[in-house]
Amino acid sequence: MPNETFKKLYVDELKDLYSAENQLVKALPKMAKAATSEELREGFEEHLEQTKGQVQRLDTIFQSLNESPKGKKCMGMEGLVKEGSEVMEEDLEHAVLDAALIGAAQRVEHYEIAAYGTVCEFAKVLGETKHASLLEKTLEEEKQTDEKLTELAKEINAQANEPGSPREEDEGKAGRRTPKRAA
Ligand SMILES: [Fe+2]
Repeated sequence: MPNETFKKLYVDELKDLYSAENQLVKALPKMAKAATSEELREGFEEHLEQTKGQVQRLDTIFQSLNESPKGKKCMGMEGLVKEGSEVMEEDLEHAVLDAALIGAAQRVEHYEIAAYGTVCEFAKVLGETKHASLLEKTLEEEKQTDEKLTELAKEINAQANEPGSPREEDEGKAGRRTPKRAA
């Protein structure tokens, strides 16, 4: 017989993840819209579809536990999403904005990797092998997404570091610094 308090902790952690994933389902389209690199935008759109599938996996787990997935708000994800929207509100140049978006997205992935790693191990100890394999699938997807973002960042960070690439629509706008040119 599992320890009921530990089992409750497992369910609570799953509820937290359910809230986190659903917050992300709302945030990812905004991040995709803000991204200027086509590759990054597609990456966000792809991860949105993946995230919807991850919500379904959690639904399956809650059904088997005969528990409601609702009732918790993931404050960690709320903070991360808020930081992501702050990035979008800043008036950043194209590649710099993309570099900042990648930074925000990787924070999200690392948070999820930690959370899924935890619940996956909990599931194993509780003898919930089916849950563990579902959670493992999601964990792998989050790791892959993080790696893809790291790859994308190499190219985008280099672009972001190029001198003087103002946003076209801002060219000639008063109050904006003109790009420094090599003398
Ligand atoms: Fe996720």
